[in-house]
Amino acid sequence: MRVLFMASEAFPLAKTGGLADVSRALPIALQSRGIDVRLLMPGYPSALTRIEKPRIIAKLEPAVGVNDAVLIAGKMPDSDLPVYLIDSPQLYRRDGGIYQDENGEEWPDNAKRFAFLAHIGARLAMGRIKIAWQPNVVHANDWHTGLLPLLLSMEGVARPRTIFTTHNMAFQGNFPASALGDMGIPEQFFAGGAVEFYGQVSFLKAGLTFADKVTTVSPTYAREILTPEYGCGMEGILRARGKDFSGILNGIDLTMWDPAIDTCLAQTYQAADIAGKRACKLALQRELGLAENPEIPLIGYVSRLTHQKMADVIADAIPYIAEHNAQFVLVGEGDPRLEAAFVAAQAQYPGHVAAYIGYGEPLAHRLQAGSDILLAPARFEPCGLTQLYALRYGTLPVVRKTGGLADTVVDANAEAVGGRIATGFVFEKPLLEDVKSALKRALALFREPLTWRRLQLQAMAQNFSWDASAVEYLKLYRAACGDIRMDALPEAQIDRMDAESTRQIAG
Ligand code: ADP
Ligand code: GLC
Repeated sequence: MRVLFMASEAFPLAKTGGLADVSRALPIALQSRGIDVRLLMPGYPSALTRIEKPRIIAKLEPAVGVNDAVLIAGKMPDSDLPVYLIDSPQLYRRDGGIYQDENGEEWPDNAKRFAFLAHIGARLAMGRIKIAWQPNVVHANDWHTGLLPLLLSMEGVARPRTIFTTHNMAFQGNFPASALGDMGIPEQFFAGGAVEFYGQVSFLKAGLTFADKVTTVSPTYAREILTPEYGCGMEGILRARGKDFSGILNGIDLTMWDPAIDTCLAQTYQAADIAGKRACKLALQRELGLAENPEIPLIGYVSRLTHQKMADVIADAIPYIAEHNAQFVLVGEGDPRLEAAFVAAQAQYPGHVAAYIGYGEPLAHRLQAGSDILLAPARFEPCGLTQLYALRYGTLPVVRKTGGLADTVVDANAEAVGGRIATGFVFEKPLLEDVKSALKRALALFREPLTWRRLQLQAMAQNFSWDASAVEYLKLYRAACGDIRMDALPEAQIDRMDAESTRQIAG
């Protein structure tokens, strides 16, 4: 099995959220099961800087009017994962974010930037780039790669099979019909409705429609997005996919997120000896200018500041937190009005509230270790990773009963506490009252040290490794391939080419 894994971000080459964590950890988990996986993504400046052993291996023929690109092969840092970066100075080498400019405006040429990614992925998949390797499965992730399944579907039967995973139905990659010319997609796909979505061209719709198999990142979200409430207008398209659509729960990278070896922390700790967590809490309080006191409950929130993550409701919950003699730490960025609200709360409650506005990977680790409670609420949550990291760090999550949050946290109601299965606090509606009442329950149990300790141990004993889910993906890849042979490239030839390309990458 040879798998080309495509995504627009992968940690640490580029990251804006959980997609990057998955795009590193899942390929590595597949690789450890003997699968030949390679990652393809755009050559943003951060990726070009951080990739290890980079070499230019091919000049890329023009597509969608882009004629300055080369393919770079190298390795993912701290792993053996082969990575291909598309280095196109005009598309990807620019200051600012990977999707947006310095002012938070979407790059005006995003349709072209990600159409190019799909065209190169398709060529690589069809063996049309001389790199001596061809996959039999392409696993494409999120709308940025949505045109790939469409492009491959135009190749008849002798082509790699496609899996498309949606990590978030709210991000659809919809562009004005006039952008069609920038995408290198035949007009008939728009006129015929296959990629048309309310008068726009939709990358997400293309992925959901044309992939051989479609997945999302938790079983509950998979059920939710078949309904109008969560489907973002695409529920009918998903329903039409029938059994070809399923939900596979994300795992986490157990080496990157492990309080026993985490080099970001003031002190490491583990379930058997949790003393270090107290040191981490004091260090976090000191670092962020909060009153240094282990007895005060510390509530953390590391998140994009968006409507999805209920950041508006959390900002409204701060007075409740401060008035109940708890502390609140935010690490996040997003909506400028919400950023301002958290900064104002910090000024209003000095010593009780700390707001770090920005992106800080090591700080996110220290927040997970130093907090007692992690807020991970959401109006919708395809999977959510921060609550999983919290569990592993003995930090009890407060979540809403939706998507992957519902699949991963067991509410500490009386029965679950008694039954020794509780791991956090779950509330129903995305309302301030519900958040407050979940926090009230959490703060009450925090005052019962023995119960709290037991809950922490239960949380830390959860296993959200990639083991089980990687096997699910493998089954899906096999099901997608069926008994189709890759006639374009006979197996023996692929093996020879494969050895050659491994040498190329290693060299
Ligand atoms: P989403 O991908 O929807 O944002 P996830 O919970 O799946 O949510 O993943 C979020 C990831 O991004 C986690 O690794 C989290 O630690 C990280 N993260 C979010 N905001 C920040 C931030 N401001 N600084 C550092 N890491 C962040
Ligand atoms: C998206 C989702 C998040 C999920 C992540 C990784 O960003 O919002 O819920 O955990 O992708 O799949």
